[in-house]
Amino acid sequence: MTKVITYGTYDMLHRGHIRLLQRAKAMGDYLIVGVTAEAFDRARGKLNVKQSTMDRVMAVKALGIADQIIIEEYEGQKIDDILRYDVDIFGVGSGLDALTLSVRALGIGAGDEVIVPANTYIATVLAITANGATPVFVEPDDCFTLDAARIEAAITPKTKAIMVVHLYGQAAKMDDICRIAKAHGLRLIEDCAQSHGAKFGDTMTGAFGDAGCFSFYPTKNLGAFGDAGAVVTDDAELAKTLRMLRNYGSEKKYHNKILGVNSRLDELQAALLHTKLGHLADLIAERERIAAAYLSGIQNPAIRLPKQRENANHVWHQFVIETEDRDSFQQYLAGHGIQTVIHYPIPPHLAECYHYLGHKEGDYPVAERMAKSVLSLPMFNGMKEEEVRYVIETVNGYEKA
Ligand SMILES: Cc1ncc(COP(=O)(O)O)c(C=O)c1O
Repeated sequence: MTKVITYGTYDMLHRGHIRLLQRAKAMGDYLIVGVTAEAFDRARGKLNVKQSTMDRVMAVKALGIADQIIIEEYEGQKIDDILRYDVDIFGVGSGLDALTLSVRALGIGAGDEVIVPANTYIATVLAITANGATPVFVEPDDCFTLDAARIEAAITPKTKAIMVVHLYGQAAKMDDICRIAKAHGLRLIEDCAQSHGAKFGDTMTGAFGDAGCFSFYPTKNLGAFGDAGAVVTDDAELAKTLRMLRNYGSEKKYHNKILGVNSRLDELQAALLHTKLGHLADLIAERERIAAAYLSGIQNPAIRLPKQRENANHVWHQFVIETEDRDSFQQYLAGHGIQTVIHYPIPPHLAECYHYLGHKEGDYPVAERMAKSVLSLPMFNGMKEEEVRYVIETVNGYEKA
C-alpha cells in the first residue's frame, strides 16, 4: 500500500508533483511531500490556499495514486475536516450574487418554482425572481428557519428547488430537508449568509446543498471591508457554469459561451477574509459567550428567548427575541441607550416589489407574527462584559405596558 504523507505548505499540484507521487506508487513505498514557506507565500497571493490543497488531494485521489492519504494538519486545521468535503469554493461579488448565480447555474428560470422561507431577508427571494422564477413561501418553524413539516404541501410539478436559509446563525432542520429534496428530485440551495461555521450534526452549513451561498458583507460573522460573497459546491458541472457566469460567461478570455455577469471577489477582500477565517472560531466562541449570558440572565415573562435546535450549534449572527409589544419594548431600550434592530419588519411576500405575486396580509401568519414581534438584541464581537450585563438588567427591568 502506498501512503502519501504530506506536511507543511504547498504550491499548486503541478505535473511534476503528480509524477513524483506516481513514482512513489510504483515503488510501493511512502512519500513525504512538502514545500517551503517561501513557495507557499508566492502561492498565497494567487490562490485560495485551502482550495489548492483540496484540489491537489482530490487529484491525488482521482488519479488513484494513493490507496491511503495521510495528511496531518494544515494551518492548524485538521486535514480530515478539510477532506470530508470534496468541494469547490470560489468568490463572487456579494451574497446576493452567490444566490442569484446559483439559481441561474442550476437552470432555474421562468415557469419554475422555488420553495423559500416566508421570513427571510429579501435578498434570498430576489435571487429567485431575478431569474424569472416564482418564489413559493413556506412558513418557518420555532427556530426561525424553514419548517420542514410544511414543505411537501408546497411542492407542485413546477417546483425545481428548495432554498433554505440558516437564519440568524442557526441551521435549518437539514436531515428532513435533505430527505424531502431527494425524495422529490429537487435541487437544494443553502443561503449561508448568516451561518458561517454553523453546523447541523457534524456537517457545516453550506455542505448539504447543491450550492452553499455565503455573504461576507462587513456585518456578517465573517465580514470583509466591503461587499463579498462565495459559493461552495461539490458539483463539478455546476462549479464550471458558476465560474463562467461570474466571469462574463467565459472560461477562456473573449470566448463568451453563456450570458454572464461581472461578479468578482475583490482580491483585497479575499486577502482580508483569508486572514480573518483563521479567527472565525474565536469570533464565534465570543458570540456564544454573549448568547449564554443572555440565555441564563434574561428572565422576563414578556420576552421569549430564542430556541436552540437539537443536534445543531448556533453561531449567533443575531440574538433574536420575541415580544408581543415589540415597538414599545424597543423604544424603552432606546431610552436606556440600547440600540436594537428588527430583522425583518416586512416579510418578503408583503414587500412592495412583490405585490405582483398577489399575496396579502394573513397568507403567512407565522412569518407575519415574527415580523411584528422579533427584535435583535446587541450582539457583536468586542462587546464588553459590563455592556452585556447592562442589556440583561435593562431587559429584566422592562414591564409590559
Ligand atoms: C439571509 C441573507 N441572504 C442574503 C444576503 C445577501 O448578502 P449580500 O448583502 O452580501 O448581498 C444577506 C445579507 O445581506 C442575508 O442576510
